Formats: sequence, structure tokens, C-alpha cells
Amino acid sequence: MATSLSRYLVEQQRAKSNIPPELRLLLEVVARACKSISHSVNKGALGGVLGSAQSENVQGEVQKKLDIIANEVLIEANEWGGHLAAMASEEMDSIYIVPNRYPQGEYLLLFDPLDGSSNIDVNVSIGTIFSVLKKPEHSENVSESDFLQPGHAQVAAGYCVYGPQTTLVLTVGDGVAMFTLDREQGSFVLTEENVRIPKDTKEFAINMSNMRHWNQPVSDYIAECLAGSTGPRGKDFNMRWVASMVADVHRILTRGGVFMYPWDKREPNKPGKLRLMYEANPMSWLIEQAGGMATNGMERILDIQPTQLHQRVSVFLGSHNEVERVTAMHKLKS
Ligand code: AHG
Ligand code: MN
Ligand code: MN
Repeated sequence: MATSLSRYLVEQQRAKSNIPPELRLLLEVVARACKSISHSVNKGALGGVLGSAQSENVQGEVQKKLDIIANEVLIEANEWGGHLAAMASEEMDSIYIVPNRYPQGEYLLLFDPLDGSSNIDVNVSIGTIFSVLKKPEHSENVSESDFLQPGHAQVAAGYCVYGPQTTLVLTVGDGVAMFTLDREQGSFVLTEENVRIPKDTKEFAINMSNMRHWNQPVSDYIAECLAGSTGPRGKDFNMRWVASMVADVHRILTRGGVFMYPWDKREPNKPGKLRLMYEANPMSWLIEQAGGMATNGMERILDIQPTQLHQRVSVFLGSHNEVERVTAMHKLKS
């Protein structure tokens, strides 16, 4: 018989003691919220969910209707269960503390409710990314500083990709498992365990339109890849860029590759475009758990001590040997 997400979580706890009941509830609730978001995504124009919401988030980005819907679904699903102390989201300026009318739990949940927003209206894969932290024990009243923990402190992380299939991908620090949404049963079913990323790859993902703004190490690395079989790498590379991090990371977890969103000269004061706490950290942990590597060009992403909830970071992640190479090229130039 197929293994449901619930059964997987119970059996993991039994075997490894790494998913206590509150965390299991949290993960089941997140999965339920993702199922609901998946239904909205599928309805598209029929559900009136496409288009802009005519508002901006704290990052100065125009919000799509689905950014806001997904954010609300995640909050409403998670606030009453007693498993959380607070939440943080790409779409909210500051943290959302669980209201007094509900019990407060010991976990903190961070999410990018809808990743790949530019793809919503064109019917291309999008997703939800989430990261779970433990509230520090000394802290009485939960505050933003409780969230500022490095990625290696995560207790669970994952994403749900809304593509041709809806797939939930999860780690609790014991490898990566994938669950496909069975719409007839209404449940996520385990379809892949012990996901491994090949150490080598011939596929890279980067937004090439920013080429003239890159720094030297990134330009040098991509030049090597583009030189193909007659260049120093001695092999031809292929390029893919979905513009949804979830979809690009999902491809890399499935067949290898390297994903890059480096710092560039367009906004030199920002360390990158992607956000550390609810994009780079959960994805980096998944990638490492599958045998890959994730750095900001200089150091392991999971070791970065955050100073701000919405801080940005350069990202190089995926097949181990490629990330190692592009990181070494950065270190050489510094
Ligand atoms: P979001 O939709 O949550 O703001 O994130 C979009 C991110 C990421 O998913 C993707 O890799 C990248 O932005 C695409 O950026 P470009 O449009 O610059 O290619
Ligand atoms: Mn995103
Ligand atoms: Mn988003």
C-alpha cells in the first residue's frame, strides 16, 4: 500500500525520534495549506486568482493576487493548532505572532508563500517554500530576533511545487523525501525517498540577461561552461532557467544541475536577489541533504548568521562539484 505523508511522519518518528508530535502536526498543516493553494493555482482564471493585487510587499515588489491568497491560507491554517509561536513571510513586513486566543507552541515557521510569482499568469510551475525553526528556550515573548538563527538550526524544511504534478519535498535532517499529491485520495503519497543529486552535471541555471552586471568569478565560470567541449571543461553544457526557484531546485534534485542567483551590479548594495531565511536556507538544506552543496560564493549558506528577517544573499547551489568549482573561483579572486 502507498505510504501517505502522515504515515511517513509517524514512522520516521518511531525509527529516528526526529519528528515529535507538535512538529508532525505542523508539517501536516503546512501540507494541507499547500493542497489548498494547489487547488487555487489549478483553478486559475476560473477562480479569479490571476493578476496583480495592486499592492507592494516590504521588498518593494508588486504583489500578485496569489501571493496574498497563499500567504493568508498558510497563516489561517497554522495559527490555531498550538504548534507555533510565530510566523514570518516574504509578504509580511514583520513577524506574525500567534494571537492570544490560541495556545503558543515552540516552533517558528517561515515561508515564501508563492515563489515564482512572474510565472503565475503564464501557467508555468510555481511553488511554496518553508523553513521551520525552534523558538529559543530562553525567550519569553517571541520577537523577530528569535528568528535570526543560521540555516543549520532548521528542524524541517521543504517546498511544494505546483507544476504538471503537485509535489511536496521535505527534509527533517534525515535525507530528502518527495510526496506527490493524489487528487482522488486528497493526500500526499510518498513517491521518492533518499533523493541524491549527481555530483557532476552538464546543466546550469542562471538569468543570462544579467550577464553584463556580474562580477568576474561568475563571468569566468559561465564563460567556461559556454566554451563547451572545446573549452577548459571539455564538455558541452545545457542551460535552463524557469524563473521559479522551486522549479529550478526541483529539477536539480531530480537530475542534477547548478542554480545561481549571484550578486550583481544592478543593485550593488544588496548581496543578491533571493532571501536568506525563507528561500536560500530551506533550499540549501534540502540540497545538502541530497548530497549537493550550497554557498554564497564564499561560505556555506547554512552557516550565515542572519541579521535581518528579509535579508538577501547570493546563491550557488546544486551538484557538488560545480558548486565547489564556482566557489573556488570566488575565493581565488578575493
Ligand atoms: P518570488 O516570486 O518569491 O519573488 O521569487 C522569485 C525569485 C525566484 O523564484 C527566481 O529564481 C527568481 O526570483 C527569478 O528572478 P528573475 O526574474 O530575475 O529571473
Ligand atoms: Mn521566491
Ligand atoms: Mn514569493
